[in-house]
Amino acid sequence: MNATFDAIVLGAGGAGLMCAATAGQRGRRVVVIDHAPEPGRKIVISGGGRCNFTNLGTAADRFVSANPHFAKSALGRYTARDFLALVERHGIAWHEKTLGQLFCDGSARQIVAMLLDECEAGGVTLSLGAAIGAVEHGDGVFRVEQGGRTYTAPALVIATGGPSIPKLGATGVAYDLARRFGLKVVEPRPALVPLTLPTEEALFRDLAGVAAPVVARVGSSTAKTPAFAEAALFTHRGLSGPAILQVSSYWRHGEAVAIDFLPGREAGWLLAAKRARPRATLRSVLAADLPERLATTLAESMGAGAELAGRKDAELTAAERRLADWRFVPNGSEGFAKAEVTVGGIATAGLSSQTMAARHVPGLYAIGEAVDVTGWLGGYNFQWAWASGWAAGMAV
Ligand code: FDA
Repeated sequence: MNATFDAIVLGAGGAGLMCAATAGQRGRRVVVIDHAPEPGRKIVISGGGRCNFTNLGTAADRFVSANPHFAKSALGRYTARDFLALVERHGIAWHEKTLGQLFCDGSARQIVAMLLDECEAGGVTLSLGAAIGAVEHGDGVFRVEQGGRTYTAPALVIATGGPSIPKLGATGVAYDLARRFGLKVVEPRPALVPLTLPTEEALFRDLAGVAAPVVARVGSSTAKTPAFAEAALFTHRGLSGPAILQVSSYWRHGEAVAIDFLPGREAGWLLAAKRARPRATLRSVLAADLPERLATTLAESMGAGAELAGRKDAELTAAERRLADWRFVPNGSEGFAKAEVTVGGIATAGLSSQTMAARHVPGLYAIGEAVDVTGWLGGYNFQWAWASGWAAGMAV
């Protein structure tokens, strides 16, 4: 069977559904094709089942991309407030959790239902649950085969996301397609992912399950990479928690991760503690502000037993510096199997930031996580999916 549309959207995730609904409501005939049996699977499991659907602090500097300016146009034209207005129009109750992060009060499924309602309002056709076959392009028309059917359209939107969490149907097909059409791909890497530590750091593995509010960044405490003031969590394999997931998006093999275990302390605080409480130990001082097990481990690695009075000032100053700039050198990450997103992807240099259209292939578009634009943890990735999907939906 052959079916002709104005646009074929590959991928029924957040970006693809938003693009299809927007284009459909502009009167375009749109089909969304996906190999998964149901749409929006990542939305359903996101935010612990409540979907952190946007962030009120959305700005281009909260995204990782080879071109930090690329996301500005789409994010500026379809904002967090625009998506929130849509959520409210659909009567979905929401709340702000922290740091501008907005979640559903009820279920992430409400966001999928909302997007499907919007698609229905635009007369969008969904074709799910069968593998995509050949994707061809000629005479100004794209042809996509799926389950014995051939869809044709003058526009093709790549919205198949990145390869993180393959068990949900994620693949790197976006990159294969992009390369075939002459677009470059920035090396994809797992991001928002726990980092693993080598066995020499086994000391910290005994801390599995311990969490503490820290400031973490890649490099050293004076590096120019963004610093994240959130919780870090020790795991059996290494480090996790929001601060570390954020850092993972910037981390590359061989680099150190610097953690400030006691952020906000003024220089000389340990010397002041020595004067105020000379009989105290480093462990007891640390335990006042850190989880007991963490305080013990940190103090032991710096000679725990002695009273502060018995320690040289220089020794305490060095301990202070170390606590503010504790370096771990991860030996890897937990990979795409555990990564919330993928950094890298279809290079923005080949795309229009206004419309997401490929500069040299008329009718081809790429949106969402497939593109080399990756948000921080906290609703930014969905906002990029909505904004880039909307931009392409207005253009196809
Ligand atoms: P997405 O991956 O959602 O959709 C791609 C679609 O393409 C899928 O339906 C897939 O089946 C389909 N597809 C892939 N390969 C195909 C192929 N070969 N053939 C046919 N179809 C194919 N973000 C956020 O902002 N807030 C949050 O709370 C969370 N939480 C979260 C939790 C977890 C566990 C994960 C894994 C991720 C998040 N994220 C998140 C990230 C967010 O889910 C992600 O950035 C967006 O879903 C990306 O939307 P896209 O539409 O671009 O891709």
